[in-house]
Amino acid sequence: MSDAASVFLIDDDRDLRKAMQQTLELAGFTVSPFASAIEALDVLSPEFGGVVISDIRMPGLDGLAFFQKVAALDPDLPVILVTGHGDIPMAVQAMQDGVYDFIAKPFAADRLVQSARRAEEKRRLVMENRALRRAAEAASDSLPLIGQTPVMERLRQTLKHIADTDVDVLVAGETGSGKEVVATLLHQWSRRRNGNFVALNCGALPETVIESELFGHEPGAFTGAVKKRIGRIEHASGGTLFLDEIEAMPPATQVKMLRVLEAREITPLGTNATRPVDIRVVAAAKVDLGDPAERGDFREDLYYRLNVVTLSIPPLRERHEDIPLLFSHFLTRAAERFQRDVPAVSPAVQHHLMSHSWPGNVRELSHFAERVALGVEGNLGEPLPPAAAGASLPERLERYEAEILKDALTAHRGDVKETLEALGIPRKTFYDKLQRHGINRADYVERSAPASSRE
Ligand SMILES: Nc1ncnc2c1ncn2[C@@H]1O[C@H](COP(=O)(O)OP(=O)(O)OP(=O)(O)O)[C@@H](O)[C@H]1O
Ligand SMILES: [Mg+2]
Repeated sequence: MSDAASVFLIDDDRDLRKAMQQTLELAGFTVSPFASAIEALDVLSPEFGGVVISDIRMPGLDGLAFFQKVAALDPDLPVILVTGHGDIPMAVQAMQDGVYDFIAKPFAADRLVQSARRAEEKRRLVMENRALRRAAEAASDSLPLIGQTPVMERLRQTLKHIADTDVDVLVAGETGSGKEVVATLLHQWSRRRNGNFVALNCGALPETVIESELFGHEPGAFTGAVKKRIGRIEHASGGTLFLDEIEAMPPATQVKMLRVLEAREITPLGTNATRPVDIRVVAAAKVDLGDPAERGDFREDLYYRLNVVTLSIPPLRERHEDIPLLFSHFLTRAAERFQRDVPAVSPAVQHHLMSHSWPGNVRELSHFAERVALGVEGNLGEPLPPAAAGASLPERLERYEAEILKDALTAHRGDVKETLEALGIPRKTFYDKLQRHGINRADYVERSAPASSRE
């Protein structure tokens, strides 16, 4: 089928057919005329991206019977029926059966064109959603790292290329951009895949705990160390150690970690004996550790040791073209999980997808898809009312403020301290504002546990 909006037009009356064809062509449609429904059925398929307009009273297959056959072929193919008999009960019944529109002759040219336009727009959305869903399914079958932008293609290539080497990797990217997905793939695509993938969130553990977590300890190494404990590093031996939020690793631990990376051995707390470990380290950072200003007290030598290969995942706002594909993937998955039909993507949702800046990146997008799948994403994407329409400046500022608060909460996953720092306002003001705007901080908190270990 051609890209131009197209109409299958069926009418046994030659003159009427010609007149309608002309009207539609003048309005920009590409028209395929047919003298009978049977002829049209021969060439119709679910791939047809246009709409069907048919007369009702025709010899052979009449318009209503024709509609049933079209609906069986593709229930989302809009059919507009035209009749010269102004038969109201029949029209009502036909609409209930799913006919897109019913037009009684005589009708104004405009009436036909408007109906065809709306039907065509609806069809276009259906076809777009189908194409996206197919692409998303194909993508997720073969790969959990979705994205067709050149930068994502390159990232996948590099991943494949280095996965099977033992080189340590630093993964850099904003929150929710897919650092853990990348780390997991490095493990799965390597010969270490049968070993453990051990994840440790360096930012989530207090300094006193992190070293015994990493290196393990002997009984009596410190107060409370009753039993011997195998550390995470040793646990990851033969597999992959994922150090998340490496920028938050306490300075003293950094020194010890550097030694581990260089010597590939550990010294459990409370012993002097070293034990060799066979690990591949993947570290993730939200900040640019190469930049002294962002690095803070992160050791430069450790940075250089980790920086053998750095994979940078760009934020979602810099790869807009991937948004529809990712969204479609998450929407299908969410609908499956909630056992709902996949909803059609409304123009308002589409607008939001492309205009929002996604500070929480792919994670935020997946949560948004869940809300759309549940139908709880309210009057989305509606433009702010113009001042003339009654919204005063303070009202508009209020709405703007609420958006900023929500974006900040999303970016910091509901973390009060981080959100306060980002917004630069006192705690009390923050809570007052949340209350005034009816924003619930808990809605933004991640559900997963901070320190995790999948083995
Ligand atoms: N390219 C992608 N394709 C499919 N899913 C993705 C992609 N990138 C991220 N995701 C999904 O988005 C969510 C967030 O990704 P991930 O946990 O890897 O982010 P992160 O960079 O580790 O975030 P944080 O810094 O907050 O820990 C996950 O559910 C992940 O599966
Ligand atoms: Mg992560």
